[in-house]
Amino acid sequence: MIGQTNGVAVSVTGLGCYVPDRILGNDELATLVDTSDEWITERTGIKERRIAAPEQAMSDLALPAARQALERAGVDPADIDLVIVATVTPDMMFPTTSALLADALGAKDAAAYDLLAGCTGFVYAVAQAYGMLAGGLARRALVVGGDVLSKILDWTDRSTLVLFGDGAGAVVLERVERGGFLGFELGADGAGGRHLCLPGSGSRVFENPGELLKMNGPEVFRFATRVLVSSAEKILAECGKTVGDVDVYVPHQANMRIIDHAVRKLGIPEERVVRNVDRYGNTSSGSIPLALADAAADGRLVPGRLVLMTGMGAGLTWGSGLIEWTEEMIAA
Ligand code: ACO
Repeated sequence: MIGQTNGVAVSVTGLGCYVPDRILGNDELATLVDTSDEWITERTGIKERRIAAPEQAMSDLALPAARQALERAGVDPADIDLVIVATVTPDMMFPTTSALLADALGAKDAAAYDLLAGCTGFVYAVAQAYGMLAGGLARRALVVGGDVLSKILDWTDRSTLVLFGDGAGAVVLERVERGGFLGFELGADGAGGRHLCLPGSGSRVFENPGELLKMNGPEVFRFATRVLVSSAEKILAECGKTVGDVDVYVPHQANMRIIDHAVRKLGIPEERVVRNVDRYGNTSSGSIPLALADAAADGRLVPGRLVLMTGMGAGLTWGSGLIEWTEEMIAA
C-alpha cells in the first residue's frame, strides 16, 4: 500500500516515552548465556537495554508514555476519541491493552483497539489514525507503540536474547493548519513470516502456549536491509521528495549494522540519522516513538523539518511514514 495523504493536514502534536528503570548491560547478559560485550557490540551496536519489572505489562509502559504525550499536546484525555496500541506483547489477548489504557487515562469516549504488525506496528497505527482523522471519524487520536519483549524471549537463546529490550512511546495526532503527514508506504510478506515468530501465541499452536520467540537472524537481516531502503525510496518518490529533502531519518532500531546499511545505501548524512539502539536494543513497536523522543530531546524536531520514519519486523512487515513536522517539541 502506498499513497499520499489526501490534503487533510494531520500531525503529531504531542510526544511521550517510557522505559523501565532496570538496565541490563552486555556484561550481565554474558553471565546468563555464552556471549560477550565484544560480540554484541560488534554485531549489533547494542550496549544495554531496559527490562520491565516482573509485574509490569504493556499497559504499565504505555500509561506514562501516553500521559506525557497528552500533557505535551495540551490535550485532556477525555477529548481523545481514538486509542490504538501497536504491540506484539499486549497485557493479554483481550481485553485489549488499548481499552485498559483508555480506561486508565479517562478517555471515556474513545474507540480503542490493539494492532499487531511486529516492529512495524507503530507506523501502521499512525497510518490508520491518519485515515480516521482525515476521514472525519476521529478528532484526536492517541497512538502508542511499545513492547515488553523480555516476557516472550527465550532466555537461554543467545541468538535472540541479546537483541531486544522493553519500552514504549506515544504520540497524539490531531488536525493542524498545514504540514503534517505527506504519505505512507506499508507492506507485508507472510511467506517470510516463519523467520520471526511466536509460534505458541494463537489458534495454530495451542498445545504448547509456552513456546517462545524464534528468529532466523541472517534471513531477517537480509529482509531488514532490503526493505529499509526500498520503502524509504518508494515513499519519497510517491511524495515528490528526495533523500536530500529528509532532515531527520528515524529507522527502526533493530541493529546498528542494519541502520548503517540503510544510511549508506540511501546516502543520508549521519547528522540526520537518529540512533538509540545502543541504549535500548530493539524495542519492537516502541523503537520509532522512542527514537522520535530522542530527536525531540536533542532539538531536531523543529517545525518545517521533513521526518522520515521506517519500520520493519515480524509478519514480515514494513512501513514508512513521511511527515513535515509542525509542532515545537521539548525534551521527553
Ligand atoms: N553471542 C556470541 N555468539 C553468538 C551470539 C551471541 N549473542 N549469537 C549468535 N552467535 C554465534 C552463532 O552461533 C554463530 O556461531 P557459529 O558460526 O559457530 O554457528 C556466529 O555467532 C555467527 O552467527 P550469525 O548469525 O552468522 O551472526 P550475524 O553476524 O549474522 O549476526 C544477528 C547475528 C545479530 C542476529 C544478525 O543476523 C541480525 O542482526 N539479524 C537481524 C535480527 C533483527 O534485527 N531482528 C529483528 C528485526 S525485525 C524486528 O525488529 C522484529
